Amino acid sequence: MAAPLTSYPWTDTFELGHARMDDTHREFVTFIDTLLQAGDEEFPALLARFAAHTQQHFDQESAWMRETDFPPAPCHEMEHLRVLEAVRVVGERVAGGDLALGRQLVAALAEWFPVHAASMDSALAGWLLRPGADSHARCQYS
Ligand SMILES: [Fe+2]
Ligand SMILES: [Fe+2]
Repeated sequence: MAAPLTSYPWTDTFELGHARMDDTHREFVTFIDTLLQAGDEEFPALLARFAAHTQQHFDQESAWMRETDFPPAPCHEMEHLRVLEAVRVVGERVAGGDLALGRQLVAALAEWFPVHAASMDSALAGWLLRPGADSHARCQYS
């Protein structure tokens, strides 16, 4: 069995080339890193802050998808909803004292993020940055 993760550094492979998305993902990665190292006292409050950040992270991506009619939006948003539901349910259990479950969630999200970033978020970044995307947006309002 692999040793448990104790840190979660940012790597170049997470970089998708969309500055605001990358900034948010850096914050996400920092949250995971901090949660992995958090003591039992600080863990529940930190997980609650992470939950709020993740909601904003996904809401921002949803707004970009809606504004630009991103074709795979339903699939991408469905995956976000599954994660948010897990974070919500586990957050309630952590608030009730089940820290071990919270730590399992953090480990699972550390495995989930690279896959999501390399597939769904990478596709969204490419869509937002595609040639002509800006002129298309300007055409709608000119
Ligand atoms: Fe993302
Ligand atoms: Fe996403």
